[in-house]
Amino acid sequence: MKALILFSSKDGQTKAIASYIATVLKGKVECDVVNITAADNIEPAHYDRILIGASVRYGHFQPEVYAFIKQHLGELQRLPNAFFSVNLTARKPEKRTAQTNPYTRKFLLRSPWQPALCGVFAGALRYPRYGWLDRVMIQLIMRMTGGETDSSKEIEYTDWQQVEHFAYEFAQLGAKKRV
Ligand SMILES: Cc1cc2nc3c(=O)[nH]c(=O)nc-3n(C[C@H](O)[C@H](O)[C@H](O)COP(=O)(O)O)c2cc1C
Repeated sequence: MKALILFSSKDGQTKAIASYIATVLKGKVECDVVNITAADNIEPAHYDRILIGASVRYGHFQPEVYAFIKQHLGELQRLPNAFFSVNLTARKPEKRTAQTNPYTRKFLLRSPWQPALCGVFAGALRYPRYGWLDRVMIQLIMRMTGGETDSSKEIEYTDWQQVEHFAYEFAQLGAKKRV
């Protein structure tokens, strides 16, 4: 069995999660982990299943995610498929489901692709790595939402056990019925 795992990542956390899923599935599912910005020559039909992971920046997923979905909608719908989003709002456990996480919920409402499985993972907060404007903006958001405001901190909120569980669920997705 061969899976395509595409990731859209600015600071590397979504890429790390995508790679971890591939590691979890090693020996069971052969996974190609590919940056969605470099997926032009990717042929999803060559795979048995497909997973897309994307991080949120200022309320949005990257345009490449929507472009890929638009271009490959048919294949996405034919193959067993899944999606996961990564953001800091999900550091709060009650904001970690497809319905309670605002970005993921909005994505599902608008997307022509309705993934068979949808995960929401908490990302990472890495103040020292941000430019000054991003640092100030994230600090402001954190202050407003009761989060960490110490700009010397790097905190990884990702629950790796949750990711592991999701990886097994992804591997177990059955083929969708073809009409
Ligand atoms: C500039 C910037 C904007 C962000 N905007 C949001 C946001 O609007 N909502 C949110 O929940 N998290 C936001 N985050 C947090 C990211 O989603 C989180 O850091 C995630 O781990 C980033 O994933 P990546 O490393 O794969 O890019 C933002 C982070 C940065 C650096």
